Amino acid sequence: MPAEPVSLATPYRTHTNGELRADDAGTRAKLAGWVHRRRDYGKLIFIDLRDRHGITQVVIDAADAPEAHATASRLRSEYVVAFEGEVARRQPGTENARLPTGDVELQARTVTILNEAKTPPFYLNDPDATIDESLRLKYRYLDIRREAMQRRLLLRSRLVQAIREVHHANGFVEVETPNLIKSTPEGARDFIVPSRLQPGAVYALPQSPQQLKQLLMVAGIDRYFQIARCFRDEDLRGDRQPEFTQLDLEMSFVDEAAVMAFVERMVIEVTRATVPDRPIRETPFPVFTYAQAMERFGSDKPDLRFAMELVDLAPALEGGSGFRVFDETLANGGRVKAIAAPGMAAATRRETDDLTEYARRHGAKGLVHLAVEAGGDLHGPIAKFLSPELQARLVSASGAGEGDLLLIVADTAGVTNDVLGRLRQELGNRLGLADPNELAYCWVHEFPMYQWDADGHRWDATHNPFSGVLPDDEALLTTNAGSLDDRSPDDPAGKARAMQYDIALNGWELGGGSVRIWNPDLLARSFNLQGYTRDQMEERFGAMLEAFQYGAPPHGGIALGIDRWAALLSHQTNIREVMAFPKTQSGTDPMLEAPSAPEPEQYEELGLRFVGVPGRA
Ligand code: AMO
Ligand code: AMP
Repeated sequence: MPAEPVSLATPYRTHTNGELRADDAGTRAKLAGWVHRRRDYGKLIFIDLRDRHGITQVVIDAADAPEAHATASRLRSEYVVAFEGEVARRQPGTENARLPTGDVELQARTVTILNEAKTPPFYLNDPDATIDESLRLKYRYLDIRREAMQRRLLLRSRLVQAIREVHHANGFVEVETPNLIKSTPEGARDFIVPSRLQPGAVYALPQSPQQLKQLLMVAGIDRYFQIARCFRDEDLRGDRQPEFTQLDLEMSFVDEAAVMAFVERMVIEVTRATVPDRPIRETPFPVFTYAQAMERFGSDKPDLRFAMELVDLAPALEGGSGFRVFDETLANGGRVKAIAAPGMAAATRRETDDLTEYARRHGAKGLVHLAVEAGGDLHGPIAKFLSPELQARLVSASGAGEGDLLLIVADTAGVTNDVLGRLRQELGNRLGLADPNELAYCWVHEFPMYQWDADGHRWDATHNPFSGVLPDDEALLTTNAGSLDDRSPDDPAGKARAMQYDIALNGWELGGGSVRIWNPDLLARSFNLQGYTRDQMEERFGAMLEAFQYGAPPHGGIALGIDRWAALLSHQTNIREVMAFPKTQSGTDPMLEAPSAPEPEQYEELGLRFVGVPGRA
């Protein structure tokens, strides 16, 4: 490693546009960059010259440099220019405190136009401009010239650098795994790539490096990590892209606590290195079981920056409430739970209708809303059914105060928690309950191993099919019938908990991982419950099953979504904002115009024929 980094000075520049200070006054300098803004006062032309390091003001005076002035008068926005001249302090009163270079200007003697530029399709020099997103994506190279995008890509670069440094410092080996592989299921569809050398056969792009990293553990790598590109053909959302990046890691001879301990330390160190000014709400990170998280927050990725927890109203409703929906729900083994939305008692009819509609859209049969008035009286459509004593019990059970709005759902445990969990997050956002600067990481673990798939008549892995079972629950990996092929929804397997842990940040799932099944018999058992026949197991996971016959160490790991992490660290709600060249909602790249039809000879070479697509034989 060279002691001194290679200078940013080049034949075109002695300094970047973020570098000159008052101390440099009186020296000669060369600057190069893009014309950010041009102000023409006749004899004086001012240019704000921009590169990714900053902006420096250049002034060209017709009296001092007539030739340069003539050239400068031809400059337009985004021209690429080089200037040469003398650094001078700005006239007192004309300094710009918002720019680090704002005390000085370059008094140019020569101007060289390196390249002209067409008028850009949107303003690059107005940070507040709202620009149509499809235009931003079509001209992404211009969009990235904007300061906000530059800042986010730099943050992402720092994030990845910090990730690498912490892993290397902890004995991890960075290994690249291939992208042309065979299907590795993570619950989405595969992208496939037809093979020319093996006509009629396809590669699958990895949904994650899951199987390969486990094989690296069998291979004795011990601690592996990778900044891994993953591909999943699924419907896009703000936190999902078809192609995205994971920090993928795996460790040998570990249990759940060992993986979580390393990952937590790594996450803290990486966060501090990347965004030193943002407070981490709580360390050690809070840990919830899946059951606790669902009970208290109605989510397995709770946003802990605000309270508004879900409360169980059953104890308060004991002995009957007089409101049929509540009483019947409880009699049928369902749940009646509430959240108290702070300060929302004055919500208008339209707002409460809107919340009810939101709850219905997510599967609730309705939503009770009760405003807590002065003295603790409840006001709302069903208040008349509730005795004053019951009203008092509900207020006290829910922890609501005067001016709050109680929102109540009565349904199965699943629907009640899910709907109230969504309402909690939605209202948390709307009411601005969270400190936007705070980073609230937490762990959720002890997920159910499986969920019943009625169509397939099998137990689907809730996370990935290789996750291990908690040692206490190993005996549950069985069916009532005793035969693993004879599965039913009330099998003991449905109660088994996985050695699976997710890490959440501010209400987003940031990462997930598990300690794996490393015993080949237990792995075959789990696959069996998941409905794979011997042949299907061989076909899909043959390499892994075979490898496990050759001495697999106990191992486990995790993958964190780097796009999500970078987005959350830069206050974004869409991961596109931290990706240089993301896809649109419909999975296209409007700049490169991908995807596109294959070249005619590719059909031939790959033995392809599109059926039923007009114009593509
Ligand atoms: P999982 O499927 O939970 O686990 O993915 C891990 C993390 O990757 C991110 N992520 C995505 N980010 C952007 N766009 C997507 N389409 C997308 N899908 C997932 C999320 C998620 O938490 N092999 C396992 C990990 C393991 O068990 O070690 C896996 O891939 O942040
Ligand atoms: P109804 O008796 O259907 O007219 O409903 C009276 C009120 O209770 C309305 O505000 C509904 O939105 C609400 N409601 C109905 N069913 C439920 C339920 N299962 N959970 C919560 N609120 C409900």
